[in-house]
Amino acid sequence: MQVAVLNGVNLDVLGDRDPALYGGLSLGELETRIYRWAREQGFTARCFQTNHEGQFVEWCHDARGWAGGLIVNPGAWSHYSYAIRDALELCAVPVVEVHLSDIEQREEWRRHSVISDVVAHRILGKGPEGYKDALAYLKEET
Ligand code: DQA
Repeated sequence: MQVAVLNGVNLDVLGDRDPALYGGLSLGELETRIYRWAREQGFTARCFQTNHEGQFVEWCHDARGWAGGLIVNPGAWSHYSYAIRDALELCAVPVVEVHLSDIEQREEWRRHSVISDVVAHRILGKGPEGYKDALAYLKEET
């Protein structure tokens, strides 16, 4: 099964962001782990990152044609992008929302995710391992 892993805005500079919150890996290092964790589950991961909301939406649409599951971390868009929420709602396969940090224990404005009601599962605050847990969830559910 192919899994789409979509990382959103500012995740390209992950290695420069607060390691206490985000784990200290660069995006490339994180993606290398995701590819390995996916192989261990018998999946093929395809990882994407963009700082452009419309591109993120396009990839959600595109993944409907080939992915058996999606793992998404839209970054700050999670808190306000109804466009991404509506695109994810169209996905017939399980979508897992991952956040490296525990958004529910941070600033008030970060605690709400507008995509939370259209995802099958959520993983918050587990750092890079959250993507591994998301793959394990997809293994169980698909
Ligand atoms: C994040 C949490 C968001 O609030 C933040 O804007 C991000 C990263 C996370 O993975 O913890 O960019 O999605």
